[in-house]
Amino acid sequence: MKFYIATDHAGYAVKAYIKALITDRGHEIIDLGPDSADRVDYPDFGRKCAEAVAADGGSFGIVVCGTGIGISMAANKVPSIRAALCHDAYTAAMARAHNNAQILAFGERVVGKGVIESMIDAFIGTAFEGGRHADRVAKIEA
Ligand code: RB5
Repeated sequence: MKFYIATDHAGYAVKAYIKALITDRGHEIIDLGPDSADRVDYPDFGRKCAEAVAADGGSFGIVVCGTGIGISMAANKVPSIRAALCHDAYTAAMARAHNNAQILAFGERVVGKGVIESMIDAFIGTAFEGGRHADRVAKIEA
């Protein structure tokens, strides 16, 4: 799988940990910034990740801010993108199984490293179920 990742300053500290998790599992991850913990605006980085995923069919994204709320809101403004704000392995799995989310969003100030690892494994390891869920996702698109 190919991932893009972007954060704001409040998600920056955990970014290296996430990148290592993804590469350890044999997947690719492209860092879209920021390159330091200097203060930035989460809409800029949510948009950057969402536009990269939208332009690269079959790719996925991870966005992190303090709560995950603002950066997921921003990512969801990009047409065709479904960014899911998750809090645990269950929500991360359902984001793939039922919502066909391409982007996993969470808050660095909300979840710890163990939960992050479980969310990433659930997101990677769960396929979209299609069927009735595809009809519902099509309604979101419409
Ligand atoms: C930054 O202080 C914080 O507002 C941001 O990271 C995020 O939590 C917004 O939704």
